[in-house]
Amino acid sequence: MHTHRTDQDVTVLNDMSEIPGLGFLPVNAFVVHAEQPVVIDTGLSTDDKDFVTWLGEVIDPADVRWIWLTHPDRDHTGGLFDLLAAAPRARVVTTFIGAGILSTERPLPMDRIHLLNPGQRLDVGDRELSGLRPPLFDNPATVGVVDHRTGALFSSDCFGAPLPTGELALAGDVREVAPDDLRGGQLLWAGVDSPWVHTVDPAKYRATVDPIRAIDPSTIFSTHLPPARGLNESLLAMLHEAPDSPPFVGPDQAALEAMLAQFEPEQPLGV
Ligand SMILES: [Fe+2]
Ligand SMILES: [Fe+2]
Repeated sequence: MHTHRTDQDVTVLNDMSEIPGLGFLPVNAFVVHAEQPVVIDTGLSTDDKDFVTWLGEVIDPADVRWIWLTHPDRDHTGGLFDLLAAAPRARVVTTFIGAGILSTERPLPMDRIHLLNPGQRLDVGDRELSGLRPPLFDNPATVGVVDHRTGALFSSDCFGAPLPTGELALAGDVREVAPDDLRGGQLLWAGVDSPWVHTVDPAKYRATVDPIRAIDPSTIFSTHLPPARGLNESLLAMLHEAPDSPPFVGPDQAALEAMLAQFEPEQPLGV
């Protein structure tokens, strides 16, 4: 895990997850150091993670006022309830659907919820944030964030990429990734995370890229990519290309057994 401080009022809490056969996927959460501090997403949900302690290296968790959950997938919700306990003034920014999905595991207290739809704004003291539905997403609750003071875009799963090494997944700048590896990883991730991109009307889909082009983000902060600055043109071209990229087909049982056969069991099975 790495912590990257940027010059955009943003600290990146940068973790990663290895996906067998695909690469190393960054898993980021963010702190926006606004007058009313905002935490965007809360990391992986595995037992070895302690998001609130990690966050405490950056900001007193009790000072957090907003927890913007871009969507309730488990690589985004790891520290959610611990942070709610540690930050008594914080509310969770999510959608009606997001709150509903969370309630299937553990309901959010109604007085800790702030419902916000794409296009709506949130005043956090010294700036306004607005919700934006990114072009690629894997969850109907997905709402990214635009910071209208810095021009930063927090794009949730969109723009993500499994990367060739764990070191690159923990990089502070996506320009450390070779351009071909970046484009290939992003197109692969587009098919993994948003398989519907191959079946929708390409023109209607590509029109959803236009709002990001209009914003021309100062930096794109994806949950699943190192921070991307000065790369808007190539990243938006990647989104345009996504419908034409090869669909992803995951390993099947024969492939799994071939993978497992590479490992010798420590003792015979069944003993
Ligand atoms: Fe997701
Ligand atoms: Fe994700």
